[in-house]
Amino acid sequence: MSSYDVIVIGAGPGGYVCAIRCAQLGMKVACVEGRETLGGTCLNVGCIPSKAMLHATHMLHEAEHNFATMGLKGKAPSVDWKQMLSYKEETIAQNTGGIEFLFKKNKVDWIKGWASIPEAGKVQVGDDVHDAKHIVIASGSEASSLPGVEVDEKTVVTSTGALALNKIPKKLIVIGAGVIGLELGSVYSRLGAEVEVIEFLDAITPGMDAEIARQFQRMLTKQGLKFTLGAAVQGVAVKGNKATVTYKLRKDDSEHQMTADTVLVATGRKPYTDGLGLDALGIEMSERGQIKTDSKYATNIAGIYAIGDTIAGPMLAHKAEDEGMAVAEGIAGQHPHVNYGVIPGVIYTHPEVANVGETEETLKEQGRAYKVGKFPFMGNARAKANFAGEGFVKILADKETDRILGAHIIGPMAGDLIHEICVAMEFGAAAEDLARTCHAHPTYSEAVREAALACGDGAIHA
Ligand code: NAI
Repeated sequence: MSSYDVIVIGAGPGGYVCAIRCAQLGMKVACVEGRETLGGTCLNVGCIPSKAMLHATHMLHEAEHNFATMGLKGKAPSVDWKQMLSYKEETIAQNTGGIEFLFKKNKVDWIKGWASIPEAGKVQVGDDVHDAKHIVIASGSEASSLPGVEVDEKTVVTSTGALALNKIPKKLIVIGAGVIGLELGSVYSRLGAEVEVIEFLDAITPGMDAEIARQFQRMLTKQGLKFTLGAAVQGVAVKGNKATVTYKLRKDDSEHQMTADTVLVATGRKPYTDGLGLDALGIEMSERGQIKTDSKYATNIAGIYAIGDTIAGPMLAHKAEDEGMAVAEGIAGQHPHVNYGVIPGVIYTHPEVANVGETEETLKEQGRAYKVGKFPFMGNARAKANFAGEGFVKILADKETDRILGAHIIGPMAGDLIHEICVAMEFGAAAEDLARTCHAHPTYSEAVREAALACGDGAIHA
């Protein structure tokens, strides 16, 4: 049994960042994690492995579709699935090992095991009870279940199982056209699987700017993904090594079935707080199972905080990281601030899709006067050279003040390009500020500047 200033529960991006920040600020800190490796869902079974698979399969796609045009002749590579999975495992190991190194460097104790909070100021792991002046819950989330659908992580899988299938399915049905469904659907489509996506709503990626969502669907369809929209899944039946999905079309209530080797359930995630003993502690929760916190991430019980996927807001690793730093700084007596208006979202398909701030739809709802500056990647020299001319940058700015209110990019490196707009928004910039900033030629980022120019007197290359 030991005594700490702070014990963080969970070593995902929220928890490990919080622990490191606490240590940097001079606090004695431990982080409790029950997995064999640090990094949580993101590093072990989420963001990082999926990006390795997206990278590998994008390379394959380039070899199959664009190499010959560039004069790179020869047979396109064939897929060694075992090797691809071991590349993915190696990528995970490098990243999780990196966090272990950072813990040692910053003198963060890793308490291995699953934590519970028997009372405020105490954290129990196995038979040991540790004292902590402050406890930060960063226990993350788990895939939410769907009535009538039993996940076995072999034939009917969540993202975890989908990243470790023992063979590439001939046909994959994805339930849910959200971020997980489309990223992993893209991976298997590029590997030759027939991919059918069934989505409850009438558009893919709910919450995304509608114009971008339509363009995104067109591009994915061209890549071979098939979509059934407006369809409510009723259940999945597994027989042998096949699974049959039954769904009803919402427009006429007609019932249909579809069979595949693998079904990926990607219908959202929910906070994971099992076993912490929050009920007994009397911690207030919302009806959605999220822990209620104030602006300093404090729960209703003194000395207990919560961050990341366990509380309200987008379930994103980088949002959790920012909250992890902020809660640590708050405990240290500083006055941190997370700007929830400037949290980017990225879908790592090809092309990538990225967004920040308001959409046209949310601005209309608010009755705000805005202008749109758009620029297609077809007008960008670098994109054309790199077979990346599809897509566009769209900047939304206040009609009167020109202040940037939001931005949406579908195209090459969108997930990186979005950040110059994030910085601009953080500093309250006008579109003209971006337009007057010199951008190196030839880069994709010129498309961002051109979209900013389009908010004013016009883009040059459109
Ligand atoms: P999501 O919320 O992005 O999408 C779920 C989709 O499933 C929605 O389109 C929803 O309408 C649909 N759906 C719900 N019930 C359905 C039903 N019964 N039948 C058919 N469709 C149904 O959730 P997803 O993709 O599972 O991701 C979970 C979380 O993980 C999200 O918060 C996401 O932001 C995060 N994530 C982020 C990534 C990134 O930033 N690149 C990558 C992967 C996950």
